Amino acid sequence: MKQKLEELQQKLHEYTINSSEDLENFRLKYLSRKGLMNDLFEEFKQVPNEMKRDLGKLMNVVKTSVQEKFDEATEKFKSDKIENTNSNIDYTLPAETTELGSRHPLNITENQIVAIFTKLGFTIAEGPEIENDWHNFSALNFPPNHPARDMQDTFFIDEEIALRTHTSSVQVRLMQQKNPPLRAIMPGRVYRNEAISARANCFFHQIEGIYIDKKVSFADLKQTLYAFVKDMFGEEVEVRFRPSYFPFTEPSAEMDISCQICKGKGCNICKHSGWVEILGCGMIDPNVIENCGIDPEKYTGFAFGMGIERITMLKYDVKDLRTFFINDTRFLKQFSNL
Ligand code: DAH
Repeated sequence: MKQKLEELQQKLHEYTINSSEDLENFRLKYLSRKGLMNDLFEEFKQVPNEMKRDLGKLMNVVKTSVQEKFDEATEKFKSDKIENTNSNIDYTLPAETTELGSRHPLNITENQIVAIFTKLGFTIAEGPEIENDWHNFSALNFPPNHPARDMQDTFFIDEEIALRTHTSSVQVRLMQQKNPPLRAIMPGRVYRNEAISARANCFFHQIEGIYIDKKVSFADLKQTLYAFVKDMFGEEVEVRFRPSYFPFTEPSAEMDISCQICKGKGCNICKHSGWVEILGCGMIDPNVIENCGIDPEKYTGFAFGMGIERITMLKYDVKDLRTFFINDTRFLKQFSNL
């Protein structure tokens, strides 16, 4: 083995590296996994112990020489390599741009609404889109066969199961799961068996909200919703409440805001009234609170529910609800700076 090492050292002196190609060959021959140096180290393992000292020294000398020769040549051909491989690149060309996508307008609105209510101390909850009759209707004070069920055209899966018609079903789930005080908003997709038109679709999006605690009053409801619309549409927006009916709230109301498109002057969107309805709300009916396992003698609460499409249409002057769902990038791109 000693002789082998000495020969190798000799050959190393004679080895000339004249190009980066030579350098790669050198690396393969001596330094790669299957190269000579590795073979020698394998062989060295078999050498009897008493010879290891001397041979080891020689091995180290050879190893250092190989490495030095390699490093030296690498340094020498480094610039060569860069020039060779990159010679076709024009560094003065502008960089290629990557096109960024944009958020969907409904997401933009949802995020804004969520951010406003989060500031007011509301948390976020979610529930299933496939829902049973009890959570979507019965618990919310819609008795079986009651005409109020026809307020919403329902997609039934079977007698018991349907696609939820509103996010109010999530209030029920939340009240069942948690004890008051409860202050939460519940965004999600809902489904209705409606003919598709510029103003209606078979699915759309809502945000539900509830606040349940001791002594929550209608004044709290109004203040919360005032704060919300001012933040969402600006200080100048005007608000009015109209009495209404929902089985799960008593009293119930609908809230209108001054039309954001014509600023109250009258246009097609507000049907020339200057007002548009944006949400339903009310004090949660004590029956509903009790159905969900909370004591209505101790706690009161308010609830509200709004359509995200409606608010987005008002905010960005979108005239046809279907444009939200056909994913035409010419429409969606208009929202890329929001
Ligand atoms: N669930 C109603 C709907 O889809 C909206 C609604 C009205 C929700 C009043 C509420 C509420 O929480 O209090 O038409």
